[in-house]
Amino acid sequence: MNIILGIILFILLIEILLVIIFISTRLFIPQKPIKVSIKDKTFEVNAGEDLLSALYAEDIFIPSACGGQGTCGYCKVKVKSGGGRILPIEKEFIDKKEVKKGARLACQLKLMEDIELDLPAQYLDAKEYEAKLVSTKMLTPDIKELVFNVDAEDFCFQCGQYVQIKIPCKTSLNGYEFRAYSVACAENENCQFTLTVKLVDGGLGSTWLHRIEESKTITFTGPYGEWEFKSKQWEHLVLIGGGVGMAPLKSIVDTALEQKLSLPVSLYFGARTKKDLFYFDYFKELESKFDNFSSVFALSDEKIENWHGKTGFIHQVFAEDFHFSKYDKEKLHFFLCGPPPMIDGIMEILSTEQIPEDQIFYDKF
Ligand SMILES: Cc1cc2nc3c(=O)[nH]c(=O)nc-3n(C[C@H](O)[C@H](O)[C@H](O)COP(=O)(O)OP(=O)(O)OC[C@H]3O[C@@H](n4cnc5c(N)ncnc54)[C@H](O)[C@@H]3O)c2cc1C
Ligand code: FES
Repeated sequence: MNIILGIILFILLIEILLVIIFISTRLFIPQKPIKVSIKDKTFEVNAGEDLLSALYAEDIFIPSACGGQGTCGYCKVKVKSGGGRILPIEKEFIDKKEVKKGARLACQLKLMEDIELDLPAQYLDAKEYEAKLVSTKMLTPDIKELVFNVDAEDFCFQCGQYVQIKIPCKTSLNGYEFRAYSVACAENENCQFTLTVKLVDGGLGSTWLHRIEESKTITFTGPYGEWEFKSKQWEHLVLIGGGVGMAPLKSIVDTALEQKLSLPVSLYFGARTKKDLFYFDYFKELESKFDNFSSVFALSDEKIENWHGKTGFIHQVFAEDFHFSKYDKEKLHFFLCGPPPMIDGIMEILSTEQIPEDQIFYDKF
């Protein structure tokens, strides 16, 4: 008897809960479609959908390096009106000044009211493409070079930019996640790009990219990147990096030298040990061919005989090797790419030298 009463009470409780959920859904989630406006384009989506997915469904591919988890800050957009209150998680990547200007993280913004967005041209220009993996090479024990041919003539990128690879993911709601990878080759008209991918233990994207076989096709969006190569206005370009931070630096060096620019370019690159170093011979050969290019390599964790580079952390090597007094500081430009401690170390040096922030671009990864 008690069991039957218990079952009846349990069913009653479930029904009450369902009624509460139904009423609150009717009360708090608007029943009419939500309008999203961007310049002269307007489209409608179901209330409650997140902005990142809504834009993707409309072929507007904004960057999203963490798969919508709110941990990369790359999906930042500017909201002109609507969008509701900003969430605490968004404030990790958006400072007070940006909040005032309407910055939001698209993956965290649930569409509950009509919204108007102001998106940069590069997001509206980014497209989804397919590419065939044509060759691969292990550069170090954990860094793989992958060369892709794009199946579209309109694909072109600028040096220093990155693409977002669509990685199959069974646990994601959509069945995929995106990961960002910088292009590691010169701008070209052959619809080809190279990536250098470091294998991260248990990492979704890097493991998948290390395992895919040649001749397989991948899907990606892009290109993306805010940095602009203004070679004619600069006196000297200094590139400093470590690990897979090499990719955009190589893309810039290759482009500058292939286009026969006279702009002096200095590359500083750090690795832990000799086996972690890659493209060393490649850059040394470029150095012997081009008077406007120089490269300094340093090993931080290994002292070896017959090593034709420096020893120590690359920011310390840079501080000793680079003579700021030789240059007009207003015309020096810096592109830094690598792990956060390396970037922080260099930023400290550049701040002591009073290099204006708008002459420094950095990507931490
Ligand atoms: C603009 C941009 C450009 C990038 N370019 C490159 C590139 O050229 N080459 C490249 O290899 N990567 C690049 N990255 C990093 C890349 O997007 C991925 O974050 C990286 O490959 C790890 O992704 P995953 O899916 O393998 O690991 P995830 O599945 O995302 O992470 C798995 C676990 O590993 C941890 N983890 C994530 N990254 C690292 C790391 N680097 N070291 C140690 N632990 C980590 C995570 O916290 C997590 O616990 C770039 C990132 C950005 C934002
Ligand atoms: S914070 Fe990474 S996609 Fe939104």
